[in-house]
Amino acid sequence: MPSEHTAGRSAGEVPSARTLVIIPTYNERENLTLIVGRLQQARPTAHVLVVDDGSPDGTGRIADELAAADPQGRIHVMHRTEKNGLGAAYIAGFEWGLERGYTVLVEMDADGSHAPEQLHRLLDEVDAGADLVLGSRYVPGGSVVNWPKRREFLSRGGNIYSRLALGVKINDITGGYRAFRREVLEKLTLDSIESHGYCFQVDLAWRALQEGFVVREVPITFTERTLGESKMSGGIVSEALLKVTRWGIGSRMAKVKAFVRR
Ligand code: GDD
Ligand code: MN
Repeated sequence: MPSEHTAGRSAGEVPSARTLVIIPTYNERENLTLIVGRLQQARPTAHVLVVDDGSPDGTGRIADELAAADPQGRIHVMHRTEKNGLGAAYIAGFEWGLERGYTVLVEMDADGSHAPEQLHRLLDEVDAGADLVLGSRYVPGGSVVNWPKRREFLSRGGNIYSRLALGVKINDITGGYRAFRREVLEKLTLDSIESHGYCFQVDLAWRALQEGFVVREVPITFTERTLGESKMSGGIVSEALLKVTRWGIGSRMAKVKAFVRR
């Protein structure tokens, strides 16, 4: 790791000057080279961390080759031995990036659904003062391309349910294209997060809101993958439903108790 990243931020530097884009992978052999190439084209100064959960299709080896081929050492790879879900992969990636002094940490899917060409929208908003920026499909200017109707229904339904259950005004709280200022992740005590699947996304945004961080949405175009397979499953959906309901009830109970005690 270059020493500049362990040193403090120099005066006048915007947060996004030290950005780490974390890309979790499980069987993304066809996609990884493409996404890393697009990212380097769109944001040459950003560093990349591929977090591979021992993909049987050899994605981890491709990641190592990409890292070895980058003369500037901007591509890093973390090999994990078990497939432990998206949440665990991101937490390991965040910890890696925080230890090395990155000031902005980005979540991005490997399958091309999150356009690296739109990354500047997220990073500009962080530089303008937001603590957490959510790439949003469901604000004006945002969209979803090529999703089957039932998948869009599930996603929109999940967002409406989360908004009602948690009482928050976020339009796309389940999305996975986001940029965190390091201060947010430092505050959120990452090891206490037990969400495994995609409800990890709701979990993190919800905690950031409760801590009073500035959370903003910017429009993105989410394009369904053309190569490889989604890892979304019934278990991932029911975990999300259960946990969001529990968090919502928990926070309302806390408010009622505080009201009664007044
Ligand atoms: N390391 C690791 N371990 N990576 C994983 C795992 C895992 O267990 N499960 C999924 N991934 C990686 C995939 O390889 C891909 O890069 C990314 O996580 C997203 O997985 P997909 O399976 O393509 O997700 P999706 O397209 O169905 O879901 C998208 O929409 C969800 C709902 O909005 C993602 O953007 C999710 O983050 C989002 O919550
Ligand atoms: Mn996908």
